[in-house]
Amino acid sequence: MENMELPPRPKLFDFHGVSMTHYFTDNWENIQNFQARPDDILIATYPKAGTTWVSYILDLLYFGQTAPERQTSLPIYERVPFLECDFHILPPGTELADKLSTSPRLIKTHLPVQLVPKSFWEQNCRIVYVARNAKDNAVSYFHFDRMNQAEPEPGDWNNFLQRFMDGKMVFGSWYDHVTGWWEKKQTHSKILYLFYEDMVEDTGRELDRLCSFLGLSPSAEEKERVRGGVQFDIMKKNSMANYSTNPVMDFKISPFMRKGKVGDWKNHFTVAQSEQFDEDYKKKMENTQLRFHTTI
Ligand code: A3P
Repeated sequence: MENMELPPRPKLFDFHGVSMTHYFTDNWENIQNFQARPDDILIATYPKAGTTWVSYILDLLYFGQTAPERQTSLPIYERVPFLECDFHILPPGTELADKLSTSPRLIKTHLPVQLVPKSFWEQNCRIVYVARNAKDNAVSYFHFDRMNQAEPEPGDWNNFLQRFMDGKMVFGSWYDHVTGWWEKKQTHSKILYLFYEDMVEDTGRELDRLCSFLGLSPSAEEKERVRGGVQFDIMKKNSMANYSTNPVMDFKISPFMRKGKVGDWKNHFTVAQSEQFDEDYKKKMENTQLRFHTTI
């Protein structure tokens, strides 16, 4: 894998009103026809909102005790297939999900709510959505696009930020994504809407919310084991959770588990960029009750 020749970086194009790259649309027919099962759990996020963190938490909650060998032998992206992904270095996400023998199946998606395959709604699956404040989300996405050859060229930070504000990112506009899922949650009781900032502030409390939503009642000792195992520094060292086995990512440019902080945006935004961003944010988010913390 190390000497594998990587294809050129993909280009963005409009797909049903959402910016995408071909890696997430090549397998579209199978994605839309994907057959969910009633006990499937869908982990939905805008990229870089804490997907891997919550995936790992759920994997430990469900399988940490019953299948401990998973923790040392299977990278997280194989335990929790990425539904719409078709990178050619692994079978497509739909195929990986079909092959999962676990129950429940944990499945990851970055799709905006309107593009989620209809069987997840028909089967009334539980969905865990994680949202992260726009400024930190943009910074994390920038570093990810720098190190990930399967993402479009990020350009410089100023241009990237403008593209983020214009919604010209893979999986589209952050603003549409977080508000689209938020609106859906108002009428759909099987969606738990979590915030990255709350998870950083008090992982144990959010773990309790997750367990209560999923109908799980782990012992205090088990909960503590999960909470300890998913701390940033521990996950960063865990080759089955930190993506170091993924050949399209160049950790010399930036690690996947980068900082894991709330408020790192202050190290990237100039005062002028922050003011312009805030002004634009107010307009884009004026019709929603959804509120984020940008510091804790
Ligand atoms: P940073 O780039 O800000 O460090 P995703 O999994 O959706 O791609 O999100 C990746 C982001 O979540 C990265 O943010 C990563 O460091 C952060 N993250 C992953 N595991 C974490 C943990 N255990 N605690 C805090 N942040 C975590």
